Amino acid sequence: MRILVLGGGGREHALAWKLAQSPGASIFAAPGNPGIAQVGSCLDASDGSPQAYLSLAEQIRADLTVVGPEAPLVRGVVDAFRSAGRLIVGPDSSAARLEGSKVFAKNFFVQSNIPTAGYVTVDNQADARRALDRFGFPVVLKADGLAAGKGVVIAHDRAEAEAAISSLKPPLVVEEFLTGEEVSFIALCDGRDALPLAPTQDHKTVFDGDTGPNTGGMGAYCDSAILTESQTREILNRVIYPTIEATRFTGFLYAGLMMTTAGPKVLEFNVRLGDPETQPLMHRMASDFAPALEAAAEGRLAGVKLEWNAGPSVCVVLASAGYPGPYESGRLITGLENAQAKGTTVFHAGTRMGPNGLETAGGRVLGVTAGGGDLKLAIENVYAGVREVHFEGTHFRRDIGRKGLRRYNGKTAGT
Ligand code: AMP
Ligand code: GLY
Repeated sequence: MRILVLGGGGREHALAWKLAQSPGASIFAAPGNPGIAQVGSCLDASDGSPQAYLSLAEQIRADLTVVGPEAPLVRGVVDAFRSAGRLIVGPDSSAARLEGSKVFAKNFFVQSNIPTAGYVTVDNQADARRALDRFGFPVVLKADGLAAGKGVVIAHDRAEAEAAISSLKPPLVVEEFLTGEEVSFIALCDGRDALPLAPTQDHKTVFDGDTGPNTGGMGAYCDSAILTESQTREILNRVIYPTIEATRFTGFLYAGLMMTTAGPKVLEFNVRLGDPETQPLMHRMASDFAPALEAAAEGRLAGVKLEWNAGPSVCVVLASAGYPGPYESGRLITGLENAQAKGTTVFHAGTRMGPNGLETAGGRVLGVTAGGGDLKLAIENVYAGVREVHFEGTHFRRDIGRKGLRRYNGKTAGT
């Protein structure tokens, strides 16, 4: 099977790496990255328009296309492929609005009776200020459109809220602050059925102990112990199935959830796989993923199952100094072979080949990923690899997965 992966980050490298292990698969990616180039052919994505991707798929005679990032989905890449009769995994542009607009998503949750944080939507800064009185502090302010995980501010007092209101472009969602454990719940959907992937947990803020500004994600781990079976059933019944029913959703439906004392509540929907959640997911998946993706694209997911390795997998993101603010690129990267020799898999996110070898080319540069017999071992294994990789100004969190250890110990571990 000839499989085309759209995108060129860590999520797409993890997907390409996993799919390349499928018997008989040939992997193509547009634009891909130097990591993906080790498992497949990287192609020019041209202007990234739906038509450009379709032409590329036709040119290489792709049997199946899988979309990584949200932008091509929002622009209608799935609509273009379907009109041309080409198999693709992803939602059409109408369903992609669930991620493309926070206001649209919130209204959808309420209409579909999907549990979510209390909120108001406002069109201007004056109304946003007035809304602050309704929720108290902390309060959550969200810009409406796509913001690569950076359009959300948690304001702890009025001054922070005022600053956020001045910096975010209306319309805004002003939202109740929820507490609990955050879970990334991702299901592969075919318009009728859902195949849930194992639960994962992201680490959104840039510094240890969940402090500092939000990023696209500084690390994630995949562990079946994150959710009980009854929690999984509740999420499927209250969140995933109602969404499939209302939208005939196809592709990856990613519910960012807060597990509150009153049950799961949706913080956001994404219409794609998570980044970096995909890295530990692909690392831990024991089944061949290609048949499940093909079944999803053909609307025959019913009865398809996925097997997972028993032990968890953990991914630690190595970022450029300054990320999520301004950062510099072009720093030489060394030590990847040593990290691999320690048994870790290194997924490329923001890298490129420079005159002297591999160099940094993004905020999130690499995702070092490893498994282990239990979460503690997986964490030890992944940091053994992280220690081997070097580039000037490397920043990474030292506490990825640490909070999850509570489930095993019955007490907080370390941080
Ligand atoms: P979002 O892009 O909506 O997922 O928001 C990014 C991050 O902000 C989430 O992963 C949470 O960590 C945090 N967040 C968003 N909404 C809320 C909320 N209502 N209560 C608490 N934290 C939130
Ligand atoms: N890791 C969060 C996201 O992919 O949106």
